[in-house]
Amino acid sequence: MKSHTQSLLAESLNALKQQGVVPADFEARIQVDRTKDSSHGDFATNLAMMLTKAARKNPREIAQLIIDNLPESNHVEKVEIAGPGFINFFIDDNALANQLMQALASDTLGLILPESQTVVVDYSSPNLAKEMHVGHLRSTIIGDSIVRSLEFMGHNVIRQNHVGDWGTQFGMLLAYMEELRAANGEQAQMELSDLENFYRAAKVRFDESTDFANQARKLVVALQSGDKYCNKLWREFNDISLSHCHEIYQRLGVSLTRKDVRGESAYNADLEQVVAELDAQGLLSESNGAKVVFQPEFKNKEGEPLPVIIQKADGGYLYATSDMAAMRYRSNVLKADRALYFVDLRQALHFQQVFKLAKTAKFVREEMSFEHMGFGTMNGADGRPFKTRSGGVVKLIDLLKEADIRALDLVRSKNPDMDEAELTEIARVVGIASVKYADLSKNRTSDYIFSFEQMLSFEGNTAPYLLYAYTRVVGIFKRAQDVDLTGATIVLEHEREKALGTKLAQFGEVMDRVVDKGQPHALCAYLFELAGAFSSFYEACPVLAADTEAQKKSRLLLAKLTAKTLKQGLSLLGLETLERM
Ligand code: ARG
Repeated sequence: MKSHTQSLLAESLNALKQQGVVPADFEARIQVDRTKDSSHGDFATNLAMMLTKAARKNPREIAQLIIDNLPESNHVEKVEIAGPGFINFFIDDNALANQLMQALASDTLGLILPESQTVVVDYSSPNLAKEMHVGHLRSTIIGDSIVRSLEFMGHNVIRQNHVGDWGTQFGMLLAYMEELRAANGEQAQMELSDLENFYRAAKVRFDESTDFANQARKLVVALQSGDKYCNKLWREFNDISLSHCHEIYQRLGVSLTRKDVRGESAYNADLEQVVAELDAQGLLSESNGAKVVFQPEFKNKEGEPLPVIIQKADGGYLYATSDMAAMRYRSNVLKADRALYFVDLRQALHFQQVFKLAKTAKFVREEMSFEHMGFGTMNGADGRPFKTRSGGVVKLIDLLKEADIRALDLVRSKNPDMDEAELTEIARVVGIASVKYADLSKNRTSDYIFSFEQMLSFEGNTAPYLLYAYTRVVGIFKRAQDVDLTGATIVLEHEREKALGTKLAQFGEVMDRVVDKGQPHALCAYLFELAGAFSSFYEACPVLAADTEAQKKSRLLLAKLTAKTLKQGLSLLGLETLERM
């Protein structure tokens, strides 16, 4: 309906151009928004205000001309001018009911799909030297919900897990692996089951023994120059480390597979070329022996230039160097239209710098869009970055285990008589959903306080509330199994039926925003409002005890579409639903 309204306005504007009211070359972006209050209709536009200068008339006058030139549409009941010159559109109830019927019959809830694009999504991307910690939760969860949403909207998505699998720390880890193997043979395999301890122990050895440290340095050099033995060790290490990550993905219901891993090391062979090409274009400068690029728009607070470091004085390459190579690959090999990076906001400057440089150096197609979808920090109750009681980083796996235990307590307290197997399964779904939803429902760019109490509450915009709301809607059908809905249709009579119908019709608009801006919280807020609209409807409009058979069926269809929309929406967020809880 929103795009329909937009196209009506576009036609009217064209007519005004032909009549010479608006200059023919005037380019207007026609903005149409949902109204906040139904007394202002369903949609409003400020188009008249946008045209005042070009048409040299006052906005209300132009608004009237726009209305006079709108093509006939049986979707629109009436159009009004409001305030200084807003135009309000009231959508016809039958047209709305038709839209809902189409949504019911469609696999994609009747969405009008945009032109399909190829979109690279860089997310999760942990460093493999250590175990995944809570810092990786946000990237993984938010990225995955955007991936699901983009695919639902018909885009071709290429997941890229840009893991940190390269760098000097690997020398230390390989040296330690070597040492353990020499001492206990295959036993070393076992030690790696706890990467965190492994890393710590390796670091201790590195700091206490110069021999060890020297061996570590030697191994890095050997690794980088392609030494077979070192590469074998390195691959074994990464393989174990990655299997830790995938255990977590699986537990979280995240859609990343091993095929999606393309880490920093995948770009090794290109790095020399990156430097050579920047050099050939005269973009490189030298700073303390390092090769860097200065870009005039990047300065620190003191006004001093902030370079991108491309190659260290000792010849080593950096994070930025592999990102330059990765961008080129994403543009020229993967041929993406967009590349989205779900990475901590603290890396914002890095991305601004490399995005800019890649365009300047023509490493990427000019029209391709690179978007850093940054996110804030997950904090503990004290407002500081989330830590264990003893001040260490919280391992993701421990956090998920705790969520599971707490969810089990919660579900058991609500269902004291439920059998253990069902309790456990419900708790698994609720626990994971709560952790994910708490993250997804916050504005991506803000920091947020991680709180088990809040995320496991049945009140407010939480996973338990929504999952429970879903079971209630589904429960209505269970009691209406004998009602035959073939040939039934939706008729919107009661004010709350209309309000629910209007909410249901907004799903597509919300999804546009989710994929354009990378904002799953918009979908969360929508589902929360939808559940609220359904409760208000259900309070005022009896379904099974409706006045007539036709009314009962119409209301059942509304409930059915609500269930379908909730389930689809939750699944796009990466949440499973339950039939009872
Ligand atoms: N491994 C990095 C980290 O843990 C994130 C990588 C993000 N992606 C990228 N293309 N730079 O901070």
